[in-house]
Amino acid sequence: MSILVTGGAGYIGSHTVVELQNEGYDVVVIDNLSNSCKKSLERVEKITGKPVKFYEDDIRDREALENIFRNEDIDSCIHFAGLKAVAESVRIPWEYYDNNISGTLTLLDVMRSHSVKNIIFSSSATVYGTPKFVPITEDCPKGTCTNPYGWTKSMLEQILTDIQFADNEWNVVLLRYFNPIGAHKSGLIGENPTGIPNNLMPYVTQVAIGKRDHLNVFGNDYDTHDGTGVRDYLHVVDLAKGHVMALKKIKDKSGLSIYNLGTGIGYSVLDIVKNFEEATGVKVPYKITGRRPGDIATCYADPSKAAKELGWRAEYGIKEMCEDSWRWQSMNPDGYGE
Ligand code: NAD
Ligand code: UFG
Repeated sequence: MSILVTGGAGYIGSHTVVELQNEGYDVVVIDNLSNSCKKSLERVEKITGKPVKFYEDDIRDREALENIFRNEDIDSCIHFAGLKAVAESVRIPWEYYDNNISGTLTLLDVMRSHSVKNIIFSSSATVYGTPKFVPITEDCPKGTCTNPYGWTKSMLEQILTDIQFADNEWNVVLLRYFNPIGAHKSGLIGENPTGIPNNLMPYVTQVAIGKRDHLNVFGNDYDTHDGTGVRDYLHVVDLAKGHVMALKKIKDKSGLSIYNLGTGIGYSVLDIVKNFEEATGVKVPYKITGRRPGDIATCYADPSKAAKELGWRAEYGIKEMCEDSWRWQSMNPDGYGE
């Protein structure tokens, strides 16, 4: 029995493949490499000492998926594949809806036709919109998303919920990630953004290594302890382990489950700069600029449901997140170099 990992060559996917292989699972990866490269999987093999079965295919390609399900003994799917750049999704919404929604519908249809009905889906705290309260529990009502990317996550949650409701042979776990940062301790795999990073930590590490002059801090007039945006950063290895725990839950025929994966601690942008400087000894010059459209002031999780039901808790603190992000960046100044 194998686990199909869609988007397994990407940032969170590659870390999850490591944790799955470490736990003894057989893994099959499908990725079209639109935002990743094969080298990440070669590095995974180096870390785990096990080969990764890889199909360079698109999840919208029904024939390609049929071929995988015919050839492999797939038992469950962890579904990471998707486009994720918020600003880009505003510019090219059609591509986002096609890739994320049509791709997932094709995947679900092929899974159904092969009677594989276990899926763990990468959702996001973005589905809460401007949260009605913090810390955010899973009961917090979903909100209005500010961009097409967010809507794809929110809509896919609904689609998966409806499919599971109609056919209770499906076991669906919706994992709402907060802000993953960090990298594997080996420094061999990590986040590899193309072009100018959208997210805070890769921007910070690129400033630290001298690729960018300074960090732009998007607004210091939010209602937070220092005026800058507060988020729940979690180590990508902890996040990856959350998927392994969710897989165990699925084996109990769990129906539909929703979990926040975060640490429960909020750090501001300036807290991150300070912690990064302390952890690495490297300065990160910054300038305060205007707010980024669509950003909210504060977002952090109440992760107690995942602790209670999955036995999952984030283990790494902010120091290790900063150290590990920096180790990856400094060992691989040009990412995977492809
Ligand atoms: P990533 O871009 O590194 O990984 C996604 C992978 O999916 C890439 O390797 C890409 O090549 C592949 N892919 C995209 N479209 C595909 C398609 N049609 N067919 C096959 N492969 C395809 O992103 P990530 O940070 O690892 O995120 C993984 C998932 O988690 C995404 O669904 C993302 O939306 C979600 N998520 C990420 C964050 C975050 O901050 N990184 C937060 C919340 C949710
Ligand atoms: N920020 C800066 N400067 C930068 C980049 C970010 O000040 O160059 C600030 C933002 O304004 C925000 C914080 O750093 O206050 C975090 O921003 P990120 O872009 O790293 O993360 P977001 O919380 O905006 O969004 C991320 C993912 C989304 C996901 C969401 C879930 O990008 O895909 O987390 O919480 F939906």
